[in-house]
Amino acid sequence: MSDDAEGLRIFLVGPMGSGKSTVGRHLSDILGCPFIDSDAEIESRAGADIPWIFDVEGEEGFRRRETTVLKDLVEHPGAVVATGGGVILAAENREMMTRAGVVVFLNVSVAQQLKRTGSGEGRPLLQQGDREETLKQLMAEREPLYRALADVIISAGGGNARKVARQIEAVLGERGLIPRHDGE
Ligand code: S3P
Repeated sequence: MSDDAEGLRIFLVGPMGSGKSTVGRHLSDILGCPFIDSDAEIESRAGADIPWIFDVEGEEGFRRRETTVLKDLVEHPGAVVATGGGVILAAENREMMTRAGVVVFLNVSVAQQLKRTGSGEGRPLLQQGDREETLKQLMAEREPLYRALADVIISAGGGNARKVARQIEAVLGERGLIPRHDGE
C-alpha cells in the first residue's frame, strides 16, 4: 500500500442498510488500511449493545457517545470508518469528518434499505411504527445532509459490496487521493 492511502481517513456515511460496514471492510482490504466500525466501537466502550444504550440513555445518550467516539476516530492516522446512519445530524460531527478526511455517501433506495434491514433487529429506530414509513421519513430528513457533506456519492444499491468498494477506490484514484489502480 502507498503512503497516500495509509494516511487517508475515509468516512462512509449513509442510511441504515446502505452497506457501510460491509463495503467498508472490503475497501479497507483493497486499500490495505484498518477498518473501524463506529457503532461497534460505541458498543465496546459502553460494554453494552445499541438497543440497550437507547433503552437506558435514550437517543440523546447514544448521540453523545457517538460524538465522543468520532472525536477519537478523526485522530486515527488513516482508516476506513463506517459510521452510524445518524452521525450526520450533529453539525459538530459533520465538521469533524470534513476536516479529517474524505466523506463517501452510500446512496440506496428505501426499498433496498427495507430488504437489508430485515426485521430491524438491533436498530432501535426501526422498532416502532411502520419500518418503511420510518425509513422514508429519516431519508427525507437526512438525505440533504448526506449529500451536502459528501465528497463522493456512490450508488450502493447493486448488492455487490466488493464492486461498490472498487468503485470508491476508482473515484478516490481519479481525484488523486490514492494512487490509481487500473484493474486487478
Ligand atoms: C442509526 C443507525 C445505526 C445506529 C443507531 C442509529 C440511525 O447504524 O447508529 O441504531 O440514526 O440511523 P447503521 O446505520 O449502521 O444501522
